[in-house]
Amino acid sequence: MKLVIIGGTGLIGSKLVTTLREHGHEAVPASPDTGVNTLTGEGLADALRGAAVVVDVSNSPSFEESAVMQFFTTSTRNLLKYAAAASVKHYVALSVVGTERIPDSPYLRAKNAQETLIKSGGIPHSIVHATQFFEFVKRIADDASDGTIVRLPAALIQPMAADDVAKAVGKVAVGAPLNGTVEVAGPERFRFDELVRQGLAARNDLRTVVVDPHARYFGAELGERSLIPGDGAQLGEVRFQEWLGHPTLQPR
Ligand SMILES: NC(=O)c1ccc[n+]([C@@H]2O[C@H](COP(=O)([O-])OP(=O)(O)OC[C@H]3O[C@@H](n4cnc5c(N)ncnc54)[C@H](OP(=O)(O)O)[C@@H]3O)[C@@H](O)[C@H]2O)c1
Repeated sequence: MKLVIIGGTGLIGSKLVTTLREHGHEAVPASPDTGVNTLTGEGLADALRGAAVVVDVSNSPSFEESAVMQFFTTSTRNLLKYAAAASVKHYVALSVVGTERIPDSPYLRAKNAQETLIKSGGIPHSIVHATQFFEFVKRIADDASDGTIVRLPAALIQPMAADDVAKAVGKVAVGAPLNGTVEVAGPERFRFDELVRQGLAARNDLRTVVVDPHARYFGAELGERSLIPGDGAQLGEVRFQEWLGHPTLQPR
């Protein structure tokens, strides 16, 4: 079965290509690096020829409000158009747990717009909602930093390893379309400040992490459970301390 991985050179995409190939599938990475650009349509017709499945794990180079909305809506419209022309049978996309309940985040608004296009796009689909990746914890800290103080909301978080995300997306991609959403998350739940403190300490990063009820998460106010999946979420295996202790699990 041929699967085209849009964003197949990225963090999740490269792991997904590897895991699908290990299971005997023809997994083809597609991104600007391989001559495929979803914003312009360049290379899409060739890449999708003969594909049964397209998996979109691409990401916007910019999180700025209009840039990120432009990225996910334009690229998704192009992908749906070229996938329909190539008679693709299953359209899979990776999104974020809580996307629909955090509308004041510009990034999550754009992901929600991406999902709305897919749901009404006419191709059988599956959407995977993942929690925050362990690999993303430093970027969260950087965005929340005010000098040497990292201000985080009083929220819970249940992050997961990119390896577990790629495995979960791979399983969905080779299965029948769900025409719905599945949630995946990490095996442990943390207080936001506790997670970031552990992540920074492991890097010998001396910033001080504090809880600030007014702190925003990439522009959004969070409730305590905004980022937490529902009871039916599939859980990954890798724990944060185990991941921190294994540099080989950390590609960047
Ligand atoms: N970070 C988190 O905690 C988190 C949590 C849940 C879900 N997600 C979702 O996971 C997905 C993947 O994230 P990631 O961290 O793996 O991304 P990433 O490492 O930043 O990789 C992004 C990929 O998108 C490709 N890309 C960029 N512009 C493109 C274009 N115009 N056309 C085609 N491909 C393009 C890049 O290609 P080049 O390398 O060629 O530029 C790269 O392969 C995102 O959709 C994100 O919303 C993230």
